Amino acid sequence: MMSGFHIKNNTLHVDQIAFSDIAKEHGTPTYIYSAAIIRDQYQALSSVMRDVLPDNRQPMICYACKANSNISILNVLKNMGCGLEIVSEGELFRGLKAGFDPAKIISTSFGKGRAEIIACITAGIRQFNIEAADEVDHINDISKEMGKTTQIVFRLNPNIAGGGHDKISTGRKEDKFGNSAEDIIKLYQKASELTHVNPIGLSVHIGSQVSTIESFRPAFEKLTELVKILRAAGHMVTCLDIGGGFPIIYNDEKLLDLRAYAEWVRDIIVPLETEIQMEPGRYLVGNAGVLLTKVEYVKQTPSRNFLVLDAGMNDLIRPTLYDAYHDIQPVTANTIDTDTYDIVGPICESGDIFTKGRTLTKMAKDDLVAIKSAGAYGFSMASTYNSRPLPSEILIDGNHASVIRKRQTLEDLIQGEAIPA
Ligand SMILES: Cc1ncc(COP(=O)(O)O)c(C=O)c1O
Repeated sequence: MMSGFHIKNNTLHVDQIAFSDIAKEHGTPTYIYSAAIIRDQYQALSSVMRDVLPDNRQPMICYACKANSNISILNVLKNMGCGLEIVSEGELFRGLKAGFDPAKIISTSFGKGRAEIIACITAGIRQFNIEAADEVDHINDISKEMGKTTQIVFRLNPNIAGGGHDKISTGRKEDKFGNSAEDIIKLYQKASELTHVNPIGLSVHIGSQVSTIESFRPAFEKLTELVKILRAAGHMVTCLDIGGGFPIIYNDEKLLDLRAYAEWVRDIIVPLETEIQMEPGRYLVGNAGVLLTKVEYVKQTPSRNFLVLDAGMNDLIRPTLYDAYHDIQPVTANTIDTDTYDIVGPICESGDIFTKGRTLTKMAKDDLVAIKSAGAYGFSMASTYNSRPLPSEILIDGNHASVIRKRQTLEDLIQGEAIPA
C-alpha cells in the first residue's frame, strides 16, 4: 500500500485517500498533513544519529514547533520520543497540551517577557537559551522570586551566513540573534556568580533551509573553541545545542548529507563530552504538508494569464515573504494540454502571488490544485488578513482523516471584538 503523497487513478492521494474526497468533505483551502511522512522524517534523522554517534551521546531532538504548532502534529512527534523547542508562552501552552514532558522542552525565544519566563519556570522546562545580556538578570531575578534555580545556555552568534534566503539567515553578526563569543565569556562568568541561574552550555543556529553542509562545520568549530576557553576559565559546559536548519525539497534543492553532518557532530562535538541537543523544524514537517486549494477563476488580461485560487498569501505567505518556490500540482490532470499561469490568491495585494509563469495542465474553474511542501511555516504563519477565516487542517494517518483544526467561521473572526456602548 502506498503511503504519503502519490498519484493513483490520475488523482493525487495521501495514503489511501483522494484529495478530491477531502475537498468534497472539508472544502478548500485546507492544509493536509501525512502522519506517516512526519514519522519517517523523525526516524530518518534519529536513525542516522543512532548509526553514527555513540550510545551515550545520542542527541535530544527538540522539534522547533514554530514550523507547525498544531497540537496533533506535536502529539505525533511527542509519541516518537521527540522533545520540543519553543519561542513563546503560546508554544509552551501547546506543547504541554500535546503532552510533552517539560524536561524535554527548551525555550529559545527572542525577547523573553516576564509572563513567558514565569510560565516556563512554573512548567519546569529544561533550559532557556539566552539571546541578550539582560535576559540573564531578568531570569535570575524571576527565578529568585519563585525560589528556583534555572538552567541557561548561551546562544553563540558565530558570524556565519547560513539559510536559503536573507530573511531566514540568523547567524551573521548583523543579525539580531545570539551573542558574540567575547560577550558570552563575560556573561558566563557573571551568570556563574548569580544565585538563581545555572549556566550549563552553549547553542548555535545559523539559519533555516541551510543546504550547504559546509556552513555547519565552522559553526561547530567556533562552539568548540568557546567551550575550551570557558572550561579553561573554570566553567562547567555540559550541554551543546547545535540548532536546526536542515533543508527540504521545494524544487530541485540538494538535500543535506545527514550522514556527513552526523560525522562532523561525531568528530567535532562528541569529543567535548556534553549532552547534545538539536532543533529541527522544517525538516520534520515541511514535506509532510500540502495546501489544497481550488481554482476560482482563470483570468486572461492582454499581458498575463492568471490562475486565481481560493487560497491566498494569508494562508501561505512564504512565496510573498521569502520569494519561496512551491511545487504546484493539479489534483487531477483533466487534459494533456498545458498553459502558463501567474498563480495568485484573492487578497487585495499585488504581492499575493504564489508563482509567475508556471506551466500546468490546462486549468478550469473549480479544478483542485495542491501547493506542495507546505507543512512548515505554512499554517503557523497564516493570518486572517482581508478578514478571511483561517483554513482547516486535516491529519491523515493510514486510512484515517482527522480534522485537527476546524475551518474558522465568520463568528470566530470577530471573537473578542466589541463595539463600545
Ligand atoms: C533558534 C531556532 N532553532 C530552530 C529553528 C528551526 O529551524 P528549521 O525549521 O529551519 O529547522 C529556528 C528557525 O527559525 C530557530 O530560530
